[in-house]
Amino acid sequence: MAKIFVTRKIPGNSLEKLKESGNEVVISEFGRPLTAEELLEKSKGVDCLLSLLTDRIDADVMDAIGPQLKIISNYAVGFDNIDVKAAGDRGIIVTNTPSDEVNEAVAEHTWALILALARRIVESDEFVRNQGYFAASGGYKGWEPDSFLGPSVKGKTLGIIGLGRIGSMVARRAKGYELTVLYNKHSRELEIEKEMGIRFCELDELLASSDFVTLHVPLTDETRGMINKETLGRMKQGSYLVNTARGPIVDESDLIEALDSGKLAGAALDVFESEPTISPKLISMPNVIMTPHIASATWEARNKMGEQAVTAIIDVINGAKPQNMVDERVWDVRRK
Ligand code: GLV
Ligand code: GLV
Repeated sequence: MAKIFVTRKIPGNSLEKLKESGNEVVISEFGRPLTAEELLEKSKGVDCLLSLLTDRIDADVMDAIGPQLKIISNYAVGFDNIDVKAAGDRGIIVTNTPSDEVNEAVAEHTWALILALARRIVESDEFVRNQGYFAASGGYKGWEPDSFLGPSVKGKTLGIIGLGRIGSMVARRAKGYELTVLYNKHSRELEIEKEMGIRFCELDELLASSDFVTLHVPLTDETRGMINKETLGRMKQGSYLVNTARGPIVDESDLIEALDSGKLAGAALDVFESEPTISPKLISMPNVIMTPHIASATWEARNKMGEQAVTAIIDVINGAKPQNMVDERVWDVRRK
């Protein structure tokens, strides 16, 4: 019988399935991110860990849990919260939960943000309610010829940085809204280019040509801070930035400067540099839309994520190779 610790209750019935597997399952009772101490205390001695992106799992945590730890199953697409190299060095399997469902959810949220930026949905909602930034405005008094004007998205250019599964689903959806799509990636995606009629270009050209720039790269040493004073400076005057990837890809204070100066017309952020702390300046800006890291929050995506996270654990307990190992090479050197 294996010991499994789940760092937080997740939606759907996947944890029921885990409990029915006949193993010893402990689910954190807190319903919030655990402190480093709580995580260590609760997970010491377990064979399997079901973690969330809010859990920071480094070499020290792995060693404190003990030499019997075989799998860290991360309930997320991103796995920058885990020291994957340290896990591999120890023969610990790390899995994540990518799927069409989660990729579609993030792509849909990205589009919701693009459209909300262009059509100023959040600002005008606050205006109608006479709340927030518009609390003192006197509210809605009827149709006006010039209230809340914004650009049409048709005919504009969308720049996608990172054309993985999520980025290409964002590109696919651009067809319906009739935008020109540019993308940047390490390697070209000739088939996707042909299928979707999109064009590869270097980052500088993408930034200079796009009316909307959306980020779909993982957080790595290379992408950390890639949207900064210099790259923001290369963006088109009056363009928009959307980030549904990871907060630290964008230097938040440089972004604030670019918004303040009018270089950018607006930004929509689902993730933040120091989540859950957000700069008060950013919060005060009416041309910034903020959502609380919910890009993957569809019923479909979260159910699938739960199913995948649980199945990976059960597979490893049964000696089967799980799907979605973030580093397949670890299978051959795995802890038994
Ligand atoms: C969410 O941010 C995820 O990585 O799944
Ligand atoms: C991850 O962000 C992906 O594009 O698959």
